[in-house]
Order: sequence, then C-alpha cells, then structure tokens
Amino acid sequence: MDVKQAIRDRRSIRLYQSKPVEEQKLYQIIEAARLAPSAKNRQPWRFIIETDSSRKKQISDIMRAFFKEGVDYPDHVKSINLSARIISRAPAIIWVLKERDPNWDTSDLLSIGAAIENMCLVAVELGLGTVWLRDVCYTQDELEEFLGTQYEIVSCVAVGYPAEQPEMRPRKTIPELFLGKTGVY
Ligand SMILES: Cc1cc2nc3c(=O)[nH]c(=O)nc-3n(C[C@H](O)[C@H](O)[C@H](O)COP(=O)(O)O)c2cc1C
Repeated sequence: MDVKQAIRDRRSIRLYQSKPVEEQKLYQIIEAARLAPSAKNRQPWRFIIETDSSRKKQISDIMRAFFKEGVDYPDHVKSINLSARIISRAPAIIWVLKERDPNWDTSDLLSIGAAIENMCLVAVELGLGTVWLRDVCYTQDELEEFLGTQYEIVSCVAVGYPAEQPEMRPRKTIPELFLGKTGVY
C-alpha cells in the first residue's frame, strides 16, 4: 500500500472485532513509531502494550471515576466515557509516554505526534484499525500511578481489527486552509 492510500484510508476506528491482534503486528506498529522524525533526534517516545482484559477494564474504571456526581462537565470532557469504553473493548492498547524534560516539552510532543501518526498509518496497511486517545490525560496522574511509571502519559492508541467502516470525517477544503494570498490560491 502506498503512503497516499494509507493516509486516505485511515479512519479513527472505535469498534473492533474480538479477534486478538498478532504480537508481530503490534511490534510492526512500534517499529513505525521508532522510525519517526524527532526534534534533535531525541526519540522521546516510550511505549507500553496492554492486551490483558482485566488491566484494560481497570484503566477504563480509573477514567470513568473521574466523574463526580453533581458536577456539570462540558461535552468534550464527557467523551472520556466513550474513550474508556473503547479501551475496555479494544483487543490492544498502546500507551505512548514521553521523557519528562520541561526544556523540550513542545518539541517532544510534536515528535511524538509524528510517531503516533506513523503508528496509525502502518496499522492501515496491516488491516488494523486504530484510534488515538488523548482523553487519558484527564486522569493522567492516576493512570501513571497504575502503570507504575516515571514517564509522562501523552496518549494511548487503541488497536484492533475494525468492526466498522466509517466514512471519511469532514475536512476543510484546501482554499480554507490558506491564510493570505499565495501564488496558487
Ligand atoms: C491528538 C488527538 C487526540 C484525540 N483524542 C481522542 C479521544 O480522546 N477520543 C476519541 O474518541 N478520539 C480522539 N481522537 C480522534 C479524533 O476525534 C479524530 O481523529 C477526528 O475526529 C477525525 O476523524 P478521523 O480520525 O476518522 O479522520 C484524537 C485525535 C487526535 C489527533
């Protein structure tokens, strides 16, 4: 599959078949991340793969416990519930963590974004679906404690064989993206 096709075909997949993901495919996803560019070639990313159902349920419970009765949360925060369900049902999740270094925060986050996109694209080629989940950040401290890690959680990527085929989500047109005058638009 060429890169353009993978870019076009990738969707956030939130429903998965129960079929487990082969370990070798999970390693190919990590390999795609490993080869990503990074600011000053720092390669600040680290990964943890979870496939154990009871651990995934515990993670999902930690996220759901964020909600306290009587508090009116904005809609974007309520999506934690959906993400928690995705985590409990996905055959695998890959935690993406970063080294803690305040001098490099922004550059390292950008680098990790590039790594995560590589992961999601290679998954398409492997016939897998992924969704990038940042909702884990609301319970970051609790989840880092659960993982027993000194590294900082940036996101997690749920992985599995797709059980849905969503249409492409809306995108802005090219002219909408250009600010000011260019030779082309
Ligand atoms: C940085 C980032 C964080 C995201 N976090 C979440 C999330 O927490 N939960 C979720 O369901 N989707 C999440 N997504 C997926 C987006 O909702 C999705 O990419 C967007 O709606 C476009 O849809 P598409 O990926 O199918 O093209 C995230 C995507 C990115 C890039």
